[in-house]
Amino acid sequence: LITLVFPSVLPESARYADAAREHGVRTVGASSLEQDPNARRFDDWAFLPLISDPSFFDALELLIIEHGIGAIYTPHAPSFHLFEHQLPSRLPGVRLLGVGPFKRQMAAVRESFDAAAAGRLGIERFAGQRIPMWPAALAGLLAQADRLYGECSQQKILALCAIFADAPVGDVVEIGALYGKSTYVLNRLALSFKVGATLAVDPWNLDLSVQIDAPLNIQQASGGWDWEVVYQGFLLNMLGCSAPPFNYLRATSVDANAHYKDSRIVTSPEFGATTYTGQISVLHIDGNHDESSVDQDLRTWSPQLMPGGWIVFDDYYWPHGNGPRQIADRTLAEYGERVTRHFVGGGAMFIKVSV
Ligand SMILES: C[S@@+](CC[C@H](N)C(=O)[O-])C[C@H]1O[C@@H](n2cnc3c(N)ncnc32)[C@H](O)[C@@H]1O
Repeated sequence: LITLVFPSVLPESARYADAAREHGVRTVGASSLEQDPNARRFDDWAFLPLISDPSFFDALELLIIEHGIGAIYTPHAPSFHLFEHQLPSRLPGVRLLGVGPFKRQMAAVRESFDAAAAGRLGIERFAGQRIPMWPAALAGLLAQADRLYGECSQQKILALCAIFADAPVGDVVEIGALYGKSTYVLNRLALSFKVGATLAVDPWNLDLSVQIDAPLNIQQASGGWDWEVVYQGFLLNMLGCSAPPFNYLRATSVDANAHYKDSRIVTSPEFGATTYTGQISVLHIDGNHDESSVDQDLRTWSPQLMPGGWIVFDDYYWPHGNGPRQIADRTLAEYGERVTRHFVGGGAMFIKVSV
């Protein structure tokens, strides 16, 4: 089936052509520009008049015959509207693909609000109480997080909402940011619940992050990333959707802690200078998952945990090793009565510690 993608100038049209090629589908791009910057992304490209031009359908018919086109895809709302109403009578042999931008975009909004309505129940289960959060705020949090690549499931986000509603005012520290998916969630919740400044820590360096406890193929998979690009991806995501007070340290957890303890001010070219209190309200441990590394992260950062603060051990349930689980279980045993709440959510262990 040869597909016409119109108007080819839209970024979504070009992405559609890339995906179609991966699926072995030929595409013909067309738009009303003499020089379309996306023209090379399609197997063939042609000029078509504007949809408001009286000659549009005649030109379209010629193009369809010339290239043997059987279907049309458009991400452009007015074009979809026109095709939906006119194609069946004017070119009955040509199929209009997909539900179109109107239904697709509105469905995405409805799905986000449905996810938020269902998610609210999940948050309240984790929190044991009602949590003040606008439906649109929760829908937006879930939808935005979903756009970011990373390892932070929806259940874990709901559990994070629950703990931020019961977190003291202080710093929010994340060890292990990757592209910043959970960083975004922590930063957004820290602002919504007026908790404090967020600090993300990651060396973005393959040699400094090998997980020797994990099976060899999991260790090797990390080499599939170009860590400079992952770091750039983190900046791209955070500059796009973080809000101050926010900063990061490109360092291992241990080196970052030395700086955090001594200076309280973190400076980066992208986010300027951020002042931290030196007292941690939420500590998210999601760096190297080897038992010795999780242990080191905990021992390095927990002295700054404040009364009523939370420690989150990511991947408490992890198919590739037991590091986070061993250390989380040991923490529960060592802290004993000082643990005022704990639960597992989205595969992570959440522990609230009193004085
Ligand atoms: C599982 S990923 C983090 C996932 C991320 N939190 C998310 O939401 O997608 C683990 C990250 O820990 C980082 N890391 C490895 N060793 C580290 C260390 N010693 N200190 C801090 N981060 C480390 C890695 O570079 C990697 O980006």
